[in-house]
Formats: sequence, structure tokens, C-alpha cells
Amino acid sequence: METKMLSTSASDLELAAQLINQGQVVAFPTETVYGLGADATSEEAVKKVFAAKNRPSDNPLIVTVASVAMVERFVSEIPDIAKKLIANFWPGSLTIIMRFKEGALSPIVTGGLTTVAFRLPANPMTQKVIELADTPIVGPSANISGKPSPTTAQHVLHDMQGKIAAIINDGATEIGVESTVIDVTTPVPTILRPGAVTPEQLEAVIGLVASEKRKVGQKETPKAPGMKYRHYAPDVPVYMVKPNDWKAAIIWAQQQLSTVGIMAPDDIIAAQQLKGMDFVWSLGSGVATANAKLFAGLRYFDNRDDVKLILVHYFEQDGLALAYDNRLGKAASGQFFVNEN
Ligand code: TXA
Ligand code: MG
Repeated sequence: METKMLSTSASDLELAAQLINQGQVVAFPTETVYGLGADATSEEAVKKVFAAKNRPSDNPLIVTVASVAMVERFVSEIPDIAKKLIANFWPGSLTIIMRFKEGALSPIVTGGLTTVAFRLPANPMTQKVIELADTPIVGPSANISGKPSPTTAQHVLHDMQGKIAAIINDGATEIGVESTVIDVTTPVPTILRPGAVTPEQLEAVIGLVASEKRKVGQKETPKAPGMKYRHYAPDVPVYMVKPNDWKAAIIWAQQQLSTVGIMAPDDIIAAQQLKGMDFVWSLGSGVATANAKLFAGLRYFDNRDDVKLILVHYFEQDGLALAYDNRLGKAASGQFFVNEN
């Protein structure tokens, strides 16, 4: 199969919708990362998404919608907490887990669970395609399972060439890490995956929320099935570096025989006099830009044969840094550079 690179012109969006209605897989842009779209009501189409990603079948997919009316096709009732979240955060980077009407969705989509994840992304091109197709589309990140999520159409092509019908190219995504996933079926709403919408923002709207780090009145926090797999991982080892350890880390890196990739914010790059070096990937000026540049940097070094190890800046903050540190921690299997001096 030849994978077509589509633009965001009206005729290309029309073509994308037709491909989806024909049961094909089309990668689509969102404000977080690119997703792999297919008709969520067609088992045959959804199976193609699992195959293209090489995704384990017990890991459920997000159902991506263009309106609240599309959610209503699958649930008997939208819970009040979900209504508040929708009013405040949709369209946007919040995925909401609800119970669905028995039989309304294939177990292939939901991994056999009684709940399903809904998301209405902010990208108007993708909203348009879903409206034209008049069907919600499944929307896992458009990477091969285990690899960093794609933040450009080129990343998608790298992983999906020949495996899917088309990719809608709308340039680099703004946010760069996936949506926050919140489960509203638990007694206290629970964040299963940190993302661009922070716990503080959620609490301002619905009061107390629980997360992996903060368990609230529940024996065990249910986790998103997808979070148990090794994730975001380049082939070479990744180590996290705490802000105060960079000086020692750079000295160590320079003693190695092979190239060490460095991913750090601009202030660290300037302080360590690394500006312009070809083994350096800038994470920009702070956590927000670091989120946007993290996956692209991991992919950049993964594709360079000379780089045998990657050191990446760890942010010691809350809020948006929760999403960043969560993804980085998985890429690094939780390992930090240890300053032995
Ligand atoms: O930003 C995003 O959310 C992107 C863009 C493309 O929309 N999509 C995305 O999908 O990240 P995916 O499949 O890579 O991640 C969805 C996560 C997985 O960890 C999955 O296990 C979890 O959500 N999930 C989906 N349905 C669930 C459910 N019913 N209960 C618990 N977790 C669920
Ligand atoms: Mg993913």
C-alpha cells in the first residue's frame, strides 16, 4: 500500500473522510500528537489500527469525536462531572472515560472493558474530517507501539509507511505530549495519565481528583492499560539528569568513546557552553516547550547511528512537568544519571 501524504485542503479532507468510510486507516493531526484514525464502528477497520501499530489487543483505544452528540450515540447518560469537564476543556487535551451502553461499541475498541475513553481534539481539520465521515474514529497515537508518539507527519511516515492509506499533514503539533486521561467512573475522578490539562486545572472545575501519586479514598488506583507497557523508548539507553547534575553529566559524556545525545533547556545549554553542538537538542525555554520537543528529540537521536546514549533534562516541578516527567520516566525506565563526585 502506498501511504498518501494529504494536505489540509478541502478536497484532501474530503478524501480522508472517504477513506475512513471505506474502512481505511488515516493518520490525523491533533494539538497533542498525531493519531491513527479509523471508523470506530467498524471492527475490520479498527483491527487494521492494531495491526499497523503492533499494539497489544488488551490496550483499549480512544474514541475521537467531533461533537458531544457523537458521544451520546454510545452512552445512556453523560455523568454530571463529565458534563462539567466537557464544558470547560473540550475541544482540547482531555480524554474522559465513561461507561457506555451495552453493545454500543465493539470489545475490540474497548479491550473488553465496560468503559470507553472519549476525546474531542482541538484541531479544526480533524474535527472537519470526523464530521464529513459522520462517524467517530479511534485515535491511538500514530507511532509503532513502544516508540515515542509522533509530533510531525514525517514521524508518522517513518513508522507507518506502507501500512496505512494516508496521513493528513498539518505541521508540528503544539503541545507535543498526549492528552490527560481522566476516569469519571470511580468514586473520586482519577487521572490515569497526566497531560496538558493539569490536576490544578481539573480541581478548579470538579474539586478533588486522584492520581497515581495522590490516591484519594480508593484501595487501588485503576490505571490506563496502556501505561503498563514500555513506552516512548529509543533503541539506545536514556538517562534523566536533574538540573544540578548537568555539569557532572557533561564531563562524563565528554569522556565517553561514542557520542552522547544531550537534550536540555536553553539555559542549561548556555551555562554548559554547548550551544550549536551537533549532539545537542534544545528543549527550548521551559516545560511547555520541552513537552513540545521531547518526542522529536528522542526520535532524532534514535535515528542517528553514532549516538549510543541520551541524557535528558528532568524538571523538578509540578503542573505541566507531571506530563513531561511521566513520558521521560518511561523512556528512561526510571533511571537517573548519578553524579558520583
Ligand atoms: O492525545 C492523545 O490522547 C492522543 C491523540 C492522538 O488523541 N491519543 C493517544 O491514544 O494518546 P493512545 O491510545 O496512545 O493512549 C490512550 C491511553 C492508553 O494508555 C489506553 O490504555 C488508555 O488511554 N485508555 C483507553 N481507554 C481506556 C479505558 N476505557 N480505561 C482506561 N484507560 C483507557
Ligand atoms: Mg500511545
